Amino acid sequence: MPPEKAELRYGEQVIELPVIEGSQSERAVDISNLRAETGLVTLDPGYANTGSCESNITFIDGEQGILHYRGYPIEALAEHCGFLEVSYLLVNGRLPNRAELDEFTHSIRNHTMIHEDFRLFFRALPKDAHPMAACSAMVSALATFYPDSLDPRDPTEVEISIHRLLAKLPTIAAYAYKHSIGQPFMYPENSLSYVGNFLRLMFATPCEDFVVDPVVEKAVDLLLILHADHEQNCSTSTVRIVGSSHVNLFAAISAGINALWGPRHGGANQEVIAMLRAIADEGLTGREFVERAKSRDDTSRLMGFGHRVYKNFDPRAKIIKKAAFDVLERLGIHSRLLEIAVELEELALKDDYFIKRNLYPNVDFYSGVIYTAIGTPENMFTPNFAIGRLPGWIAQWLEMHEHRHKIGRPRQIYTGATQRAVTKIDER
Ligand code: SDX
Repeated sequence: MPPEKAELRYGEQVIELPVIEGSQSERAVDISNLRAETGLVTLDPGYANTGSCESNITFIDGEQGILHYRGYPIEALAEHCGFLEVSYLLVNGRLPNRAELDEFTHSIRNHTMIHEDFRLFFRALPKDAHPMAACSAMVSALATFYPDSLDPRDPTEVEISIHRLLAKLPTIAAYAYKHSIGQPFMYPENSLSYVGNFLRLMFATPCEDFVVDPVVEKAVDLLLILHADHEQNCSTSTVRIVGSSHVNLFAAISAGINALWGPRHGGANQEVIAMLRAIADEGLTGREFVERAKSRDDTSRLMGFGHRVYKNFDPRAKIIKKAAFDVLERLGIHSRLLEIAVELEELALKDDYFIKRNLYPNVDFYSGVIYTAIGTPENMFTPNFAIGRLPGWIAQWLEMHEHRHKIGRPRQIYTGATQRAVTKIDER
């Protein structure tokens, strides 16, 4: 069947634009030649209607609440795989066999330490530095310690920088936390799992042995899987556009960490807990807060609700909500915050304001309840999100480099002053 075409009529001109169809029947008008043929550019603030690339990595159906990584439903990956297995899938395009996973795990385990001089960097940071600032700064600084793996076009250098990033981000995040509480940095313990090692780096001290709680280990591993990729979200698009200048991978990932930090994006998980705590501390009812979140006169939003793509349930939110109940029960914890979250969800899902705007719980709505229950400090929620999203950022960056690609450089419509003459300063 011949490829579909779209017609654009502009003035006397009628042009045909190719329509491309993806493997899941998504369709896009290819406007690559629009300006050359018509002199027109498109305008789409926030890119709500604009695709930046074709990708084989993650598929989201926002209407159906579907999320697949490399064709595998998120529910199946969450149930049957571990985070490093999913990381291998995202980066390599297929699930590893046992030998491949063992080799990948071994390599990651042997890159978890950071250069001893790195500790000096942390010492220079204020105690109350947000760990996301530390993570983006230290990831960018990896380029200074590893000048041997900066060329984005050299497969060997790319592979070593990928393994270094996957291995070292948990160490860097944990050190940012330890610095903020004035505790000594722990060295990685490579006999532990990826998550077990991270938990030990976060919560162990040299004063006593640390035993990894398997319930906590599994909960964090699940959360990392659920955060691992999400097509062209704000931080991933940042990694791609920064990477399109052919800067090294460390710099592109550092930019992604900064984008993720924002409260509208990955920073929302921390904002959700702050919201739940405020409701509890102020003795607000769920209805009172929901009314605030709806009011244009109030800047409050129901954090953890709404999504650019999901206009139905975020499938990750469903999995995390179930895991929250499971983890709290197994840890024997009663969470007032979870009770408030459930009440807010029930109220919002029946409220016309949220229904009309297709606002549902997203990945951030319940994740903070789990992080809080396992002792993760609130300013470490988003660094946890970054550790989870890292393999997705890497996979998307790799995919961009696998194809011929232009440097990312959007157009604009200029609406400012037309040409003016410079007058002498004494005449202004
Ligand atoms: C993540 O893109 C991704 O895939 C992101 C992510 C990933 O995995 O990478 O899924 C992770 O970032 C999840 C989102 C986390 N952010 C939050 O939970 C913050 C709260 N949510 C919103 O700020 C908002 O919903 C966004 C930013 C998530 C989406 O914004 P959009 O699509 O640009 O929608 P919008 O801001 O234009 O809102 C549309 C309407 C507006 O009302 P009207 O102007 O039409 O009257 O919905 C309202 C908004 O005021 N609205 C909300 C709301 N979210 C949107 N009203 C109250 N509470 C909310 N949470």
